[in-house]
Amino acid sequence: MKLIRRHLVMGALLGTAFGGLLILLGGQFVDFQTPSMDLKPLVSTEPARGSLSLPLRKFEWQARTPHPLDLKYPYPYPFLLTHPNKCKGPRGAPFLLMLVMTRPQDVGARQAIRQTWGNETLVPDVVIRRLFVLGLPPPLFTKELHTLLEEEDREHGDLLQMGFLDTYNNLTLKVLMGLEWMARYCPSAQYVLKVDGDVFLNPSFLVRQVLQPYGPPRPDFITGYIYRNTGPLRNPAYKWYIPPELYLPDRYPPYCGGPGYVLSGSLALRVLAVAQTLKVIYLEDVFVGLCLQRLGVKPTPSPPKAFLMYRLQYEYCAFHRLALVHQFWPQELLQIWPDFQRVNMTCTVP
Ligand SMILES: *[C@@H]1O[C@H](CO)[C@@H](O)[C@H](O)[C@H]1NC(C)=O
Ligand SMILES: *[C@@H]1O[C@H](CO)[C@@H](O)[C@H](O)[C@H]1NC(C)=O
Ligand SMILES: *[C@@H]1O[C@H](CO)[C@@H](O)[C@H](O)[C@H]1NC(C)=O
Repeated sequence: MKLIRRHLVMGALLGTAFGGLLILLGGQFVDFQTPSMDLKPLVSTEPARGSLSLPLRKFEWQARTPHPLDLKYPYPYPFLLTHPNKCKGPRGAPFLLMLVMTRPQDVGARQAIRQTWGNETLVPDVVIRRLFVLGLPPPLFTKELHTLLEEEDREHGDLLQMGFLDTYNNLTLKVLMGLEWMARYCPSAQYVLKVDGDVFLNPSFLVRQVLQPYGPPRPDFITGYIYRNTGPLRNPAYKWYIPPELYLPDRYPPYCGGPGYVLSGSLALRVLAVAQTLKVIYLEDVFVGLCLQRLGVKPTPSPPKAFLMYRLQYEYCAFHRLALVHQFWPQELLQIWPDFQRVNMTCTVP
């Protein structure tokens, strides 16, 4: 089931730094599959002529052209690959639904994750379901990757592909569409993990120490590495730059770091509902924090040093006492995994 759509990509840059000079990179069409007639350019790409002064024209462009970091949501992005039955089965709704963010071209990372921490049967007695969430590859690679992805999905049945460009700036869309899928096909999952593809994860620690399958239900539960008292970076040179037009306040509410956070299924559904009413920003982890703030929910602290946002050298005992380490690549995962899986412990693990 594929849905075919022509997208309009507007690359417009307003040259505020040049005292009102307008630099227009121009609109370009990106044709993913076959053309359709449903989209028109929002603005003419012809240079404006006539009597308008530069500042006036600039004002007009600002009023009509979305900021390049602006995201269109809510919007019915299509699911190109999906698995409506993923959460159905004799053992009922999963205890943990893993939504793993990878790009379409990250075939090797997905394979390594399946063979290591993404293995659904690693934690005995607990039902885990894993899905990789991805968008569309860069237009040049669409055709080549399409066949590969269909093949990969036929073999593993774990790809959730959506009809928008898979870029860093669109990560919030991936997460929200992942939650939309959950709301529709897996609403009874007890917990949902949002995790990036470049991490080490210790599912046993996550399940037993952080989530505690035999504890009471926690409807307001979300945890991870909690950032507090941070605020927007206003310098465009930063990766996480955000201009005041997209986010005005000078502080962020507390939020869980993007590489990996986990929340109860019921909270996930409420985050999704409130996300429909807020202005979406491209910083996905901050945006989830804004949803929590609106819901009046505070992140729950995790066991100390359970979620590491920086890299840590592999060491058997240390890694058994934590849930997640950021910045692990497929080859490293495959290398350390056999050692990590050793059963005979020489160190105490909670
Ligand atoms: C997943 O883990 C189980 C149990 O530890 C093992 O038998 C199986 O081979 C693993 N699957 C993969 C794809 O590595
Ligand atoms: C996704 O991101 C790219 C650039 O980062 C942007 O051009 C595109 O319009 C975004 N949205 C969709 C729906 O593809
Ligand atoms: C550790 O190894 C010994 C010898 O190989 C074995 O008898 C014992 O059962 C192992 N312990 C655990 C906890 O697996």
